[in-house]
Amino acid sequence: MALSFFRSTLFITLAVFGLCLGHLSFMSNAQDDGTATYYTPPYTPSACYGYEDEGTMIAAASDEIWNNGTACGEMYQVTCVSGTNQGTPYPCWGSGTVQVKIVDYCPPASCRGTIDLSQEAFASIADPDSGVINISYQQYVP
Ligand SMILES: *[C@@H]1O[C@H](CO)[C@@H](O)[C@H](O)[C@H]1NC(C)=O
Ligand SMILES: *[C@@H]1O[C@H](CO)[C@@H](O)[C@H](O)[C@H]1NC(C)=O
Repeated sequence: MALSFFRSTLFITLAVFGLCLGHLSFMSNAQDDGTATYYTPPYTPSACYGYEDEGTMIAAASDEIWNNGTACGEMYQVTCVSGTNQGTPYPCWGSGTVQVKIVDYCPPASCRGTIDLSQEAFASIADPDSGVINISYQQYVP
């Protein structure tokens, strides 16, 4: 009786511990911090798809994500964390998180963030007046 109680307690403890570990490694592998800006139409031509229309839930990748073009077509989940300017200290609104497809390149000469979202994607998670926001982001496989 006592032994089986000990066993099941141990089992539950290990199971909970395992769940926590799994969750932690998932977080640290997948999630990164960065900044997001936005760009406005026209969204074509794009570096990945030329004149092909990929809709509005799209983004341009900076060198941190671009990886010489292999990022084309990858899906990212972007979450608004905070503002970066005093004028709009609490810019996050709406759904908080948006899912976008990489369709373009954001070249270092003009890029001001980790990921350059379409105006529509940006506006669904933050006030466009804020310009640049702090984000967390992670790639996901649909
Ligand atoms: C980048 O991609 C181009 C075109 O796909 C390729 O020719 C070039 O070798 C790649 N560069 C690196 C550093 O992988
Ligand atoms: C935005 O992120 C930067 C870099 O992590 C940080 O220094 C800054 O305090 C953040 N801004 C806000 C308003 O949290």
